[in-house]
Amino acid sequence: RSVNAPRISVIGTGYLGATHAAAMAEMGFEVFGVDVDPKKVEALSAGKVPFFEPGLPELILKHVKSGRLRFTTDIAEATALSDVHFICVGTPQQRGSNAANLKFVEDATAAVAANLTHDGLIVGKSTVPVGTGMRLRDIVASVIPAGITAELVWNPEFLREGKAVMDTLTPDRIVFGGASEKAEALLRTVYAAPIATGTPVIACDLPTAELVKVSANAFLATKISFINAIAEVCEAAGADVSVLADALGHDVRIGRQFLNAGLGFGGGCLPKDIRALMYRSSELGAYSAASLMQQVDEINMGQRQRVIDLALTALGGSVLNRRIGVLGAAFKPHTDDVRDSPALNVAAALHLRGAQVVVFDPEAGATAKAMFPTLTYVDTIEDAVTDSDALLVLTEWAEFVDADPVAMLDLVHTPVVIDARNCLDADAWRAAGWKFRALGRPV
Ligand code: UGA
Repeated sequence: RSVNAPRISVIGTGYLGATHAAAMAEMGFEVFGVDVDPKKVEALSAGKVPFFEPGLPELILKHVKSGRLRFTTDIAEATALSDVHFICVGTPQQRGSNAANLKFVEDATAAVAANLTHDGLIVGKSTVPVGTGMRLRDIVASVIPAGITAELVWNPEFLREGKAVMDTLTPDRIVFGGASEKAEALLRTVYAAPIATGTPVIACDLPTAELVKVSANAFLATKISFINAIAEVCEAAGADVSVLADALGHDVRIGRQFLNAGLGFGGGCLPKDIRALMYRSSELGAYSAASLMQQVDEINMGQRQRVIDLALTALGGSVLNRRIGVLGAAFKPHTDDVRDSPALNVAAALHLRGAQVVVFDPEAGATAKAMFPTLTYVDTIEDAVTDSDALLVLTEWAEFVDADPVAMLDLVHTPVVIDARNCLDADAWRAAGWKFRALGRPV
């Protein structure tokens, strides 16, 4: 490393931290990835990633081998040897509340500050309710060793699971919140590579940076619930939401992305982030945002019931002892993440109503089984389809989209397909002889 290159520690090695650590190593820095879980550290040190994320294992292995990337449970050592400390731990929804649980962020920040042996820069990347950074500054001040100073800034991350490596190496924008001139210069050194290729930098105050991230996710969620609300109108009026979305998308002010109607959003981010915004905006007396997010959440959760109802109707009112083939368990394609997965939620609800539910997912079988062990999991599309009374497509993996409806027809008991992601070619499935049902599309 060049004499002036800052050394970097990344606290938390989940989707965000592991990817950020690998990306920083790829950008040429010496990086410590820190986690409290020794099993995770051991796996990552061997270049193994404990979740499915395309391209990440290769990048981690490359830099574990290059010596630029090390994983450790020893936060004291990592902190002592680093200059810039990224906080990348989770902010899950609190049990029994819409609020975000900030314990991990607070603990990680305090641990870094308490272990500093020279001046440093603490950079929050986790998604937090607005106002968190200010409180963390107080925590830093209360635990930092005498004679040492550390600035705390916010630099939110916008990566998508399944595209995490690309999003981290080539972000759409970089936001620095609450950075002094000196801190901003250091951050510009850290992000020199994406800045050199033209990535815009937005330097702002701390609360704005926190809110940029939260409102980006809130907007994406709102877009999805908007199209799902319109899908309900389409259904009632005999219109087709897929055609409508394509037509809307041609307006550059609207854009086609995140207008796919269907089962709605899930995962570890959007659902908990809109609920945390609901909670935080109520606390601040900003009730419009709170009620908007409440509606977005209700519409979204209602989609799961609408798919269950489609299945019930298609099977004549009851799923008891009927065999239902389920394609998809992950909350979206290109991930094995089943946190708040709409697909798994629907599968489990049908199982509870007495159906025999047979699930196939190309990547998420194991994680789904760990969460809902009572469902039946199989290893191929064909095994899920065979003898089914209805086939539900709940995650739009390419191999489901590409499945041949003619070949599938020979396997099923009753050719009923419910396309809960509006991802199949309705005409092709109908032409092959299937009863085809989808949300927001004419029967
Ligand atoms: C989301 C954001 O897209 C990222 O920018 C953000 O950084 C991340 O949360 C985070 O806060 O960490 P992610 O949760 O990985 O990323 O997934 P998305 O690609 O946003 O999809 C979220 C959900 O929306 C999925 O369940 C997907 O199936 C659903 N979706 C998406 C729709 O139902 N319709 C659409 O048109 C698009």
